[in-house]
Amino acid sequence: ATEAEEQDVVIIGGGVAGYVAAIKAGQAGLKVTCIEKRGILGGTCLNVGCIPSKSLLNNSALFHQIQHDTKNRGIEVEGLKLNLQQMMKAKDTSVAGLTKGIEFLFKKNNVNYIRGTGAFKDEHTIDVNLIDGGETSVKGKNIIIATGSEATPFPGLTIDEKKVITSTGAIALTDLPKKMVVIGGGIIGLEMASVWSRLGTEVTIVEFLGQIGGPGMDAEISKMAQKLLTKQGMKFKLNTKVTSGEVNADSLKIHVEAAKGGKEEALDADVVLVAIGRRPYSAGLGFEKIGIETDDKGRFIIDHEYRTKIPHIRVIGDCTFGPMLAHKAEEEGVAAIEYITKGSGHVNYGAIPSVMYTHPEVAWVGQNEAELKAQDVKYKVGTFPFSANSRAKTNLDTDGMVKFLSDAETDRILGVHIVGSNAGEMIGEATLALEYGASSEDVARTSHAHPTLSEAFKEAAMATYDKAIHF
Ligand code: FAD
Ligand code: NAI
Repeated sequence: ATEAEEQDVVIIGGGVAGYVAAIKAGQAGLKVTCIEKRGILGGTCLNVGCIPSKSLLNNSALFHQIQHDTKNRGIEVEGLKLNLQQMMKAKDTSVAGLTKGIEFLFKKNNVNYIRGTGAFKDEHTIDVNLIDGGETSVKGKNIIIATGSEATPFPGLTIDEKKVITSTGAIALTDLPKKMVVIGGGIIGLEMASVWSRLGTEVTIVEFLGQIGGPGMDAEISKMAQKLLTKQGMKFKLNTKVTSGEVNADSLKIHVEAAKGGKEEALDADVVLVAIGRRPYSAGLGFEKIGIETDDKGRFIIDHEYRTKIPHIRVIGDCTFGPMLAHKAEEEGVAAIEYITKGSGHVNYGAIPSVMYTHPEVAWVGQNEAELKAQDVKYKVGTFPFSANSRAKTNLDTDGMVKFLSDAETDRILGVHIVGSNAGEMIGEATLALEYGASSEDVARTSHAHPTLSEAFKEAAMATYDKAIHF
């Protein structure tokens, strides 16, 4: 595109938020350009986030299962060996296939793709510093900012992605570390700790709060998950903060103390993973020049239609409010374009599921017990353990439970929390139920196939207003 060809929409960032908006705009027949500085589409999620982490989680789980959980199933394996290089290659293959797929979808939907870094020249013009050299600029009637997020650094520890790493380094280690310290027991910390611990690394997780899992995870579920991860060999230091780190040529020392002050300790490690959250990314965008504002956390300030105070400039995904999740970014990509083309869009922020892809998985949607208590909502609890579910028993995989929280008076579902194999798939049903305002009785009176894990879901729903049959 050149300045002469004004676009209906210009999107800055080709991550999940940006690329979905671009495809949706193309489908709606809009003239659309998407600018991406990485040179590869898919953003954090496809390149260094969701996809590569899930590849490593899947294959490390398989390795771990073959090592520890086959004999009793009548499968005897000899000569098991880790080929880390090949495991990384398998990950890279998945990433490459998916990122190329988006380029194909761009072509299919007439999205003009510019590989370069975009910066505001004025309210309608974006200057682009091209990856292949040179510059161009592109004008848009509408502009969508979808520049994503980056790892929050830990003061005093310089990230080199080899010894002091973020998730980006953690999905690309070339040697198996002996000892790893993870700062932050949130989702990134626990997923990456799972990968490396399964492959043989001794992992210690240091978490400031009294529970793991990051924001949103129900306390009872978090405790159960911690117990199961501890059984797998991970060590936890809760209510503990890292005060400083010493990086030497061939070793690391991480100094920690009790969160409330007091007991101090030094932990040795070969690698330290900084996983204390992510922050919005907008470096070099030049948004200040046109008067767009961010809050004290760097999130772009927008209204319910994703508009900044300059109404034709919208913001979606990780760089604005809400959970930093790919499927949230995707919903916003669709809705932002629908606001442009139809004047209305829809995202239900009360029904966005969260999944932690450990083994077992942890998944939830809606509110947890602490949140309901804080709002003084009267609720009922229904639970069902997988140890009483026939399919879990035949699979010899019975850890975890399903927990329903429903309104005490109306029985309307307020939240569902699951620890268990397949929790990430099962939470889809809970999300749909929540979206449609279902009661737990609606779920319990719906036939669920036998024998499936989802029968535990049905019976937990049943247990909120009546008794479960099998427990
Ligand atoms: P991003 O994906 O960060 O994309 C923004 C893009 O904009 C980037 O490619 C960047 O290069 C580009 N950009 C920035 N500035 C400019 C500029 N000036 N010009 C041009 N381009 C620019 N979420 C889940 O839902 N499920 C998961 O399993 C999951 N796993 C994760 C695992 C890890 C290790 C991490 C780090 C994150 C994970 N996430 C997961 C979160 C998910 O990756 C993000 O929520 C998602 O990527 C947000 O999409 P986005 O488009 O807003 O931002
Ligand atoms: P997080 O916010 O989930 O967890 C960070 C944890 O670090 C919190 O428990 C916090 O209490 C702790 N912490 C903060 N400062 C600390 C300190 N100084 N010392 C010790 N602990 C400290 O952030 P995380 O894990 O970095 O992930 C960022 C985001 O990426 C997630 O919130 C999520 O949105 C996204 N993500 C999603 C995944 C998924 O959906 N499966 C997977 C990975 C990331």
